Amino acid sequence: MTELRESLALPEIGAMKRAGTKIVMVTAYDHPSARLASEAGVDLILVGDSAGNNVLGYDSTVPVSMDEAVMLTAAVARARPRALVIGDMPFGSFQASDRDAVANAVRLVKAGADAVKLEGAGPMVSRVRAIVDAGIPVMGHLGLTPQSATKLGGMKAQGRTAAGARRLLDDAVQLQEAGCFALVLESVPGRIGAHVTAALRIPTIGIGAGPGCDGQVLVWHDLLGINEGVAPRFVKRYADVAGEIRRGLSAFAAEVRSGAYPADEHEYKIAGDELRAFEAELDLDVGTDGERRA
Ligand code: KIV
Repeated sequence: MTELRESLALPEIGAMKRAGTKIVMVTAYDHPSARLASEAGVDLILVGDSAGNNVLGYDSTVPVSMDEAVMLTAAVARARPRALVIGDMPFGSFQASDRDAVANAVRLVKAGADAVKLEGAGPMVSRVRAIVDAGIPVMGHLGLTPQSATKLGGMKAQGRTAAGARRLLDDAVQLQEAGCFALVLESVPGRIGAHVTAALRIPTIGIGAGPGCDGQVLVWHDLLGINEGVAPRFVKRYADVAGEIRRGLSAFAAEVRSGAYPADEHEYKIAGDELRAFEAELDLDVGTDGERRA
């Protein structure tokens, strides 16, 4: 019998808000990363469409397809992490209709997601309701929503005017009432993040939304220092993985070129008599010049 996965139960995420325990979320896009995240004790793993920029080589999250999202979600879920796995719904997978939204959310759940995340409010509130009605937990995402960055005027912080902050709060309440179990707040002033958090029963997970949120999320490649370029203001690097990878690869290349690798301990052995028998079969005549002759 397959061992049951000992994952966090979804209601525990809501309970963490009520208890004042901060929620930790990271993105991950593959099996070993998911295993490491789980071993480090994170609560939620988001298989974000940020895979587009971080692992798939796209310029933005927009080109990410449903097939790619399903493949990455399945790889993460196969690590059977204790953390809950959130599958991010890529651009185009939910905008057109409630029906599309439910069908694509089902694909992510069949790939192993415990819940899905989608960006936006307005017409998307009905998508949230439809997916929740289909029995799938939904995490909302407001503030800077990269899938609609063009409409927002670029990758800019949101909610920086009284009217913008009011809209953000209204949208957040609507998503809560539609059944979201949590809400990502991206790139909004810290004071607004705190106000929205205080107004909601469901937890907020901030990314550039200040310390007043119920939890925080960072993108794997940003927090571990795999991305080295200019980063958004909210990014803090906790490791220098790119430096470590570069050091490791340079050392490998140098040792291959010098002959230091592989050493004796990296070599499989064959018993002397077996080797002699094999070489006799080859009927080799190795001359003094080292040339093999048939
Ligand atoms: O795709 C992603 O990584 C996200 C986070 C930035 C929340 O949506």
